[in-house]
Amino acid sequence: MGALFRTVQGRVRNGRPIQDSPRTRPKGAPYSGQSRNTSERGALFRTVRGHARKGRPIQDSPGTRPKGAPYSGQSTDTPERGALFKTPEGKSLSGPNALAVKKGFYNRHSQPQAAAAAQGFALFEQAAREVPLEGVMQVADLACFHGGNSMEPMRRALTILRERASNAFLEVTHTDLPTNDFNPLFDLLAGPESYLQPGVLASVRAGSFYQPLFRPASLSLIWCSAATHWLSRVPAPANPMYAAQWYEQARLDWQAWIDSRAYELKSGGQLVMVGSGADSFGRTGAEGLVSMVRETMAEVLGPRQRARLALPTYHRTLREWLAPLGPRLALKEVLEPPMPEPYWDEYQKTGDLEAYADRVVSFVVAALNQPLLKRQGGKDFEQRLRQRVLAHPELARPRWWLTVLRLVRA
Ligand SMILES: C[S@@+](CC[C@H](N)C(=O)[O-])C[C@H]1O[C@@H](n2cnc3c(N)ncnc32)[C@H](O)[C@@H]1O
Repeated sequence: MGALFRTVQGRVRNGRPIQDSPRTRPKGAPYSGQSRNTSERGALFRTVRGHARKGRPIQDSPGTRPKGAPYSGQSTDTPERGALFKTPEGKSLSGPNALAVKKGFYNRHSQPQAAAAAQGFALFEQAAREVPLEGVMQVADLACFHGGNSMEPMRRALTILRERASNAFLEVTHTDLPTNDFNPLFDLLAGPESYLQPGVLASVRAGSFYQPLFRPASLSLIWCSAATHWLSRVPAPANPMYAAQWYEQARLDWQAWIDSRAYELKSGGQLVMVGSGADSFGRTGAEGLVSMVRETMAEVLGPRQRARLALPTYHRTLREWLAPLGPRLALKEVLEPPMPEPYWDEYQKTGDLEAYADRVVSFVVAALNQPLLKRQGGKDFEQRLRQRVLAHPELARPRWWLTVLRLVRA
């Protein structure tokens, strides 16, 4: 039986599973933990970029949950430490969101993440149309950071739920790591951009999304954008020799994430995840910018500081995203849309290279959010990176490979 494929233009055609070619690792990719296990063979399915596909449940692969791991999804070898990560040698590393960027900075410099999230809106609206209407309808926004990119998806889902159930109690809970500064989110909720309306309550909850954050079977809808590339920890030095450890950590974390969401969702509840992924060869689409960042770090940080700044990020292929799905949490739809490029498009319109370089640098600083980089490299890092972007503007285009999943709880 072929899977049903739907193009972005809405055309439907029959397809069949395509074998993935063995993944080749792009030169220099493992620097930021994006290393890949090249022994991986054969994707279950692959969509051509820009095509959407309706899926069918994929059987749980046996043995994907680590032995003895609680249903909570917290993998046994992955102690959660908020934003502090430990190397196998036990050294602390800074993780995402450790209060490195000032209040509101992320919200002003995250248009690429906003544009990426927008690629999941239609699926999130469809999910809001399909979820059962019963009791309190609770919506979770996982990994909200400063909340700037959370208002629109929440507004869209709430509008549909309100149309479907005019008297229902609607609740939104935004979550992020305990080190997150939730104050910019509170400001947004109190201001003109807020989605709040009568009969809608909003709250926040701090904790890692690699464990359940809500009571069992309590959520109707889950939204998560631009966050699942952060692993729970740095599993090994960022070196191709350790590719298998990075691959395994990403597998365990994604399994834990899926298990946790299956635990939290009501029967019939749905989730939409917009993730920064990789094509079937493991290419993220941002290799150029990543090497510029890497070279700049090498200039401003000493070797020990660079080792401390190993970032626990990993970009999964479609095969890896789909691996832990099964009847319990089944695939409804998957998209691999082209990444919108707001900064590049603006530059093409205005020809203002300086403004383009400023935006790319601010985007990098906001997305990395590394206290160490801020302390040690500071302005020097930003200026040197800016020079690189000015010299090679096209190479700095972060054309992330996006994956959007819509999943339903049995
Ligand atoms: C690039 S921001 C995305 C923010 C927002 N969702 C958006 O689309 O703009 C990534 C967020 O993921 C959060 N994050 C990383 N690891 C996490 C974890 N284990 N649990 C919860 N949140 C995590 C970070 O703290 C950060 O706020």
